Amino acid sequence: MDRALHLAALGRCGASPNPMVGAVIVDAHGQLAGEGYHAAYGGPHAEIVALADAGGRARGGTIYVTLEPCAHHGKTPPCVNAILAAGLQRVVVALSEPTSQAGGGCDHLRAEGIEVHEGPGAERSRTLNRRWLHWIRFHRPWVTLKAAVSLDGRVATREGHSKWITGEGARDRGLELREEHDAILVGVETILADDPRLTRRLGLNPVSGWRRIILDSKLRTPTDAVVVQSQPESTLIYHTVEAPVEDRRRLREAGVEMVELKADCHGRVDIEAALDHLARREVAALLVEGGPTVHGSFNDADLIDEVALFIAPFIIGGEAPSAVAGRGVATLEVAQRLVFEDIDRHGDDLEIRAVRPKEADVHGAD
Ligand SMILES: NC(=O)c1ccc[n+]([C@@H]2O[C@H](COP(=O)([O-])OP(=O)(O)OC[C@H]3O[C@@H](n4cnc5c(N)ncnc54)[C@H](OP(=O)(O)O)[C@@H]3O)[C@@H](O)[C@H]2O)c1
Repeated sequence: MDRALHLAALGRCGASPNPMVGAVIVDAHGQLAGEGYHAAYGGPHAEIVALADAGGRARGGTIYVTLEPCAHHGKTPPCVNAILAAGLQRVVVALSEPTSQAGGGCDHLRAEGIEVHEGPGAERSRTLNRRWLHWIRFHRPWVTLKAAVSLDGRVATREGHSKWITGEGARDRGLELREEHDAILVGVETILADDPRLTRRLGLNPVSGWRRIILDSKLRTPTDAVVVQSQPESTLIYHTVEAPVEDRRRLREAGVEMVELKADCHGRVDIEAALDHLARREVAALLVEGGPTVHGSFNDADLIDEVALFIAPFIIGGEAPSAVAGRGVATLEVAQRLVFEDIDRHGDDLEIRAVRPKEADVHGAD
């Protein structure tokens, strides 16, 4: 199972919005016969890859799989049928399938006389798939907030300069995060200030369908912005009823998708409505890359599940904006505490990762 979990993690860039799953097959003599993982959304499941790898050696053997084999026809045929056809004798499963649609695999296998064990490695499989599990359970994408900051937490100078706060290594790592998520979201002021590409460009994720999301209540995004000029079909702008007809026409003609959502109490796009819409568009993991005003809205609504902070070793000081604006908390007791998970070094810069602890999930722990 340890090996199967290691393999599952290789699907980090590609599996979403499916779970990361790994499988290992041991033959009737206890020798490694085959292995595989779910590499790309819509592609073969881990069990099928491992069975193909094992061939005839699977007969009478055991499969270790990090998620309960599916019992339904989704994008691919049911894995339980393939397991039965291969003549495996024992199935060891880490995590139970949480959706009723794909669940029931273990019961089906037991009913066919297969020995089934559930549970070993369940916690690690759950942690690996927490973004997916969150989306399945709450019908809302997992939100990772990413920012590059100075030592004093500023994202730009007082005159708005932010290119570049961190060095190339940290920026590459930031690009890697895009490969792990299904979409990126920014506020219109970041488009106006930086004119970013917001592309996935490391080639680590084989799945197409990357979305670039802009919160832009009144449709101020210029037609000559890079996100409009290049691959406009991958850009989705959320706006409110306040968006002028002329701008709706201008951006529609440029090929950008626009969706009108309700306004929040400040007259801006309601982010819960945006997350709800994104969840239905199969965005399981969302990367929020600023700026501070947008980060502030996510923080004020307690919608941040993970933070990836890249810290450069200098101080900006003065009136410069910090990474998270908004209303903020009044007392330390009400601040949502995250737990530090990782610290990495990229050249001169640090990467700090923190996640919402499971027990602090306002929607109930798993
Ligand atoms: N260092 C970094 O990692 C980093 C990353 C990104 C940006 N930046 C810097 O941050 C600065 C831009 O940040 P910013 O704080 O001024 O603006 P921002 O967060 O990029 O965009 C804010 C704008 O988005 C629109 N919006 C729509 N719905 C919203 C909602 N629910 N909540 C919040 N905003 C909503 C609002 O304009 P409407 O009311 O017109 O809709 C709002 O003024 C630039 O200097 C940029 O270089 C730095």
